[in-house]
Amino acid sequence: MPEGKLVVSLTVNGQPVSATPETTVAAAVLIAGGYTRASVSGEPRAPLCGMGICFECRVWIDGRQHQRSCQILCAPGMDVRTP
Ligand code: FES
Repeated sequence: MPEGKLVVSLTVNGQPVSATPETTVAAAVLIAGGYTRASVSGEPRAPLCGMGICFECRVWIDGRQHQRSCQILCAPGMDVRTP
């Protein structure tokens, strides 16, 4: 974490993660060592385009499903869930 930068704390599947407010939720999920969703056959999927087109980065955020994590910045107290 860069020194002197504002830090927000959130959780990814219950695991605490610290990030700057400029960090996307997709990056926070990767920092936490997870993947964003599973395919219909159960294969792990991860962000692909990073610009809101592919929908491979969908997660649950604060109980809302199908949130494109590459388009959403980390916020304090955010609860992120992946499959
Ligand atoms: S990575 Fe493609 S929509 Fe988020």
